[in-house]
This record gives sequence, C-alpha cells and structure tokens, in this order.
Amino acid sequence: MRSVAVLNQKGGVGKTTTVANLGAALGRLGNRVLVVDLDPQSHLTLHLGLDTSSDGPSVHKVLLDGMSAADAIVDAGENLSAISSNIDLAAAELELVSVVGREVVLRDALEKINTHFDICLIDCPPSLGILTLNALAAAREVIIPLLPHFLALQGLGKLLETIALVSRRLNPDLTVRGVLLCMYEGGTRLCGEVVSDLESFLDAARGANLPWSRAELFKTVIRRNVRLAESPSYGQTIFCYEPKCHGAEDYEALAREVLAVDDGNQADGQPAAGSQTAPTPVTVGEQPAAQAASPQQPEARPPRPEAAAPSQDGADALVSTRQTL
Ligand SMILES: Nc1ncnc2c1ncn2[C@@H]1O[C@H](COP(=O)(O)OP(=O)(O)OP(=O)(O)O)[C@@H](O)[C@H]1O
Ligand SMILES: [Mg+2]
Repeated sequence: MRSVAVLNQKGGVGKTTTVANLGAALGRLGNRVLVVDLDPQSHLTLHLGLDTSSDGPSVHKVLLDGMSAADAIVDAGENLSAISSNIDLAAAELELVSVVGREVVLRDALEKINTHFDICLIDCPPSLGILTLNALAAAREVIIPLLPHFLALQGLGKLLETIALVSRRLNPDLTVRGVLLCMYEGGTRLCGEVVSDLESFLDAARGANLPWSRAELFKTVIRRNVRLAESPSYGQTIFCYEPKCHGAEDYEALAREVLAVDDGNQADGQPAAGSQTAPTPVTVGEQPAAQAASPQQPEARPPRPEAAAPSQDGADALVSTRQTL
C-alpha cells in the first residue's frame, strides 16, 4: 500500500478537497483506496457524507481506544473506503501525550491493513502537532497543496524542516512527492511568478540528501472551480456531484499523474490501472483552455550539488517538534 500524507500547516489550501477527490479519482481508476481523516474539523468525513457522531467508528477510537483500523473502515464510494473523524479527535493531542510511542500509533494500526488497499491518503489538520506527526510517521510520501499567491512559499520552509526532522527520527522512508497548486487561476502574472519561485526552490535541493530533493511541482494544477466548493455541502465527491466539470477533470488528471510516476514507493512497483492513458490536464503556466497535448511526465532537471538553505522560519517548528519527539 502506498501511503500519502496530504499536508500543509496553512489552512484552507485544498488538503481536504484533494484527499476526497484524488481518492475518488484513484478509486474510479481501479485502485483500492483508503482515506483517513486526521483532522478534528472532520471536513473530509463531512465531504464524503459520512457519520461524524461519536458513536461510530473513528480515527480517534483507533488512536486511543484500541479499535483496529479494519474495524474502523467504512464504505465511502467506488473502491473508496474511509476512516472518519469526529470532534473527539480535538482532545487527541492532549490524550496522546501519555501514550507510549504516541507518534507511531497510526502507523502501527495501518500496517495491519497494508495489503487491503493499493493507496492510502491521509488528510492532515492545519498544524504541525502530534496528529500530523502520526501522519508523517505512517506515510512514505507527502503531497503539499499550495495556493498560488504571493505568500505561497512563506511557511513552506517550516513544513519541510519538520518533514526532515521526522525523516531523521521516525521515518527514513519519508519523501516529499510533490507540490500541488490548488485554486489555480491561470494566466495571471502572479501565478507565473509563484510557479517560477517554487521551481527554483525545489531545484535548489536536487542531488541533496533531503526528503524533498526529488519533489516536483505537479504538472496538473487544480483550477479554481465553484463545483469543488459546492460538492462538500452535498456530502459528495466531485465525481458524484458534477462529473463533467473542470474540478473533476483536474483531479482525474492528478490521479493519473500520481499513478504514472513510479518513484519506488509503490508496493508492487507497478503503476495501477489507468495510469498508461494520461489525458490532457491543465498544466502549470498554461491558461485553462490550453490543454497539454501529451501525457504528463516530470521534466528532467539537472541535479544541483547544493542543498536548499535551511529556512529561518523552520526554527519554531523544529523547537516544538523536537519537544514532542
Ligand atoms: N479548486 C477549488 N476551487 C474552488 N474552491 C475550492 C477549491 N479547492 C478547495 N476549495 C474550497 O476552498 C475551501 C478550503 O479547501 P479545503 O477545505 O480543501 O482546504 P484545507 O486545506 O483542507 O483546509 P483546512 O486547513 O481548514 O483543513 C473549501 O471551502 C473548499 O471547498
Ligand atoms: Mg481540511
């Protein structure tokens, strides 16, 4: 099972929308998908139309009441299963403090269902606390959704430093798979500048021994699309709510891109069903109407010898995460 944490400590950047709709798209392409709602806000659970009451199975019960992951799984659609969240999870940061091995509870639970699924996507809360550490310990890949505005890079250093720390202490297999631009409005100068800044930032780490030294900016961008904002209110993924809209097109293209690149993290080393027939998604730097003509492949970039300079704004996260670890 591939395990992917969808993470950015900034709020409202598209994490939950991505887990719900990328998960649904991967399921429609024939993969057995598990999504885990690790956010006390329970937005993913609501988005999928699932029960958020304290009575039902939940990730809180898995983390703190000894419920097995297998017992916590509920059906959420075509090839799509979920472990849901509820408000009880808000207390988990405190409750986990006294638990031995508190950073790896989720990892241990998911390991037991490793063969039941092809891919697991974990929706993280907008913070770098113990729940996020559990996600980073359980995952082998990280996808970072970002909004293409002028503060896009601010905070990225802090996030990457935390990932580096977890990789050193808890999970040496952890890699940043890519950065995903969400709510993209093509054609603006600002978007172009953000893309260029991000590519320089990622290029600066090529060849270094860092968890993000192979990270790519996804070719697929998720366009701003009102249908994506509406669908959670109906408890539906975009493929049930409005399967013909740009939002559905973009998440299907993202799913194919995620499947197409075999970076060694897949359990069987093979792309899953559907990955050979990449469509023509909107790509970075293009107007929405200008669709790419060929399957999406990562650009070859020359490796650079020097590592990305550690960011100053990583210091706070490092201090608090070190205390937790
Ligand atoms: N491509 C898009 N176009 C339009 N609206 C979007 C798009 N992606 C997400 N949204 C909307 O933006 C808001 C924030 O998205 P989302 O909840 O996915 O972000 P998040 O990073 O999970 O937020 P949080 O940090 O609070 O968990 C939601 O109302 C969502 O419906
Ligand atoms: Mg969210």
